[in-house]
Amino acid sequence: MTLRTLTTDDLPAFAELLASAFLSDPTDGLKHREELVFEPDRSHGVFDGDELIGTGELLTRKITVPGAGQTPFGAVTSVGVAPGHRRRGALTRVMRAQLHGLHEDGGEPIAALWASESVIYPRFGYGLAAQFYRAKVQAKAAYRPGVELEAERVREVPREQAIPLIKAIYEKEAPLRVGALDRPASAWEFILDDPEYRRHGATALKFAILPDGYAIYRVRSDWHEEGPRGTLNLLELVATTPEAYATLYRFLLDYDLIATIEAFAALDEPLIHLLADPRKISRSAGDSLWVRLVDVDRALKTRRYSAAVELVFGVEDAFCPWNAGNWRLVTDADGNAAVTRVEDAPDLELDVIDLGAIFLGGTRPSTLAAAGRIRQRTAGAVSRATAAFATDREPSCLESF
Ligand SMILES: CC(C)(COP(=O)(O)OP(=O)(O)OC[C@H]1O[C@@H](n2cnc3c(N)ncnc32)[C@H](O)[C@@H]1OP(=O)(O)O)[C@@H](O)C(=O)NCCC(=O)NCCS
Repeated sequence: MTLRTLTTDDLPAFAELLASAFLSDPTDGLKHREELVFEPDRSHGVFDGDELIGTGELLTRKITVPGAGQTPFGAVTSVGVAPGHRRRGALTRVMRAQLHGLHEDGGEPIAALWASESVIYPRFGYGLAAQFYRAKVQAKAAYRPGVELEAERVREVPREQAIPLIKAIYEKEAPLRVGALDRPASAWEFILDDPEYRRHGATALKFAILPDGYAIYRVRSDWHEEGPRGTLNLLELVATTPEAYATLYRFLLDYDLIATIEAFAALDEPLIHLLADPRKISRSAGDSLWVRLVDVDRALKTRRYSAAVELVFGVEDAFCPWNAGNWRLVTDADGNAAVTRVEDAPDLELDVIDLGAIFLGGTRPSTLAAAGRIRQRTAGAVSRATAAFATDREPSCLESF
């Protein structure tokens, strides 16, 4: 097996491999989708002779980190190995090329991904950093008294009219929400790409707009003798004020002929606190972002911290050995951090997986200590780390890339 970065000539084989890895037939539609975000020089291919049998891509994106806005990260995607070539180390080669390459080139200090299967990435140092809910809300669910709504009506507007409006709102909100990603034009095209095969019996994407918020969704009809039981699939709802948030959800809840709203939601989605009966919403949690610190020192310095601390972390990192050893994190009252390699004894011992998991503030050091993953060597160190890494809200990334 050999490994090299790809070129635009590799796109057809790349798209075909990914279609097969993700259980689809190769089609022009899938190839078009891959092409929208294809960064060939940041994509690695593993070849058996001339045949592309494994791949993985790094997208050039930014993620909002605690207290410091958007910072570049390597968005890992397009990971697939051809059936018949699996469990022979092809993915391991791609992962090594990505992470060692970022380290050697001084590239993004953080990598992150959505995993198809949760067992795949911890061995490469990725920790479970953010979760999300698949929420089902009963249509027509009432709000509690006193919820303030916008005076302005929600308008459902055609796609071309909606796109510039939603882009402007998203650009305001994303830098404020830890875990949210920036959206270059290519990412918007990918997200709003709306071919028939992606609709699964539902309509094309619909867009509801307010000056301070928007919702993107599809609706699917379902007729029964007892009455209509349609579904509204909410892809994204972004609002920059509480009134716009409540008004957009009210609009979706009151959509006629719909029985259920199915939504991707943040772990701390405010909706439940608007409902008169919180049990009108049912939720099941899943993992969203897995985060990998490429270089512990560079990565920890990109974010701000919520408490002034001085802590030595004893870090294990089998896959990226330059991170192994003891690191002192010193944060000041403004939340800025200095990170230096030291010989002092650690206050906390952990794997780089766990540093990735706590990085966005979604997984608490105290939770990992309770799970036996972070080992406390100095009294109070877990509490201090938990206070320092804490964030106002749950990190939320509802964009699967
Ligand atoms: C996931 C996938 C890319 C793994 O590729 P691969 O080349 O078989 O992986 P490797 O041979 O490098 O495996 C490295 C290790 O991870 C383990 N591993 C890899 N994929 C695994 C999986 N899906 N489940 C359990 N273990 C897995 C291997 O057993 C191996 O363990 P070992 O080092 O103890 O022997 C491949 O199975 C695939 O294409 N799956 C379908 C598409 C997909 O899910 N892609 C990931 C998208 S996020």
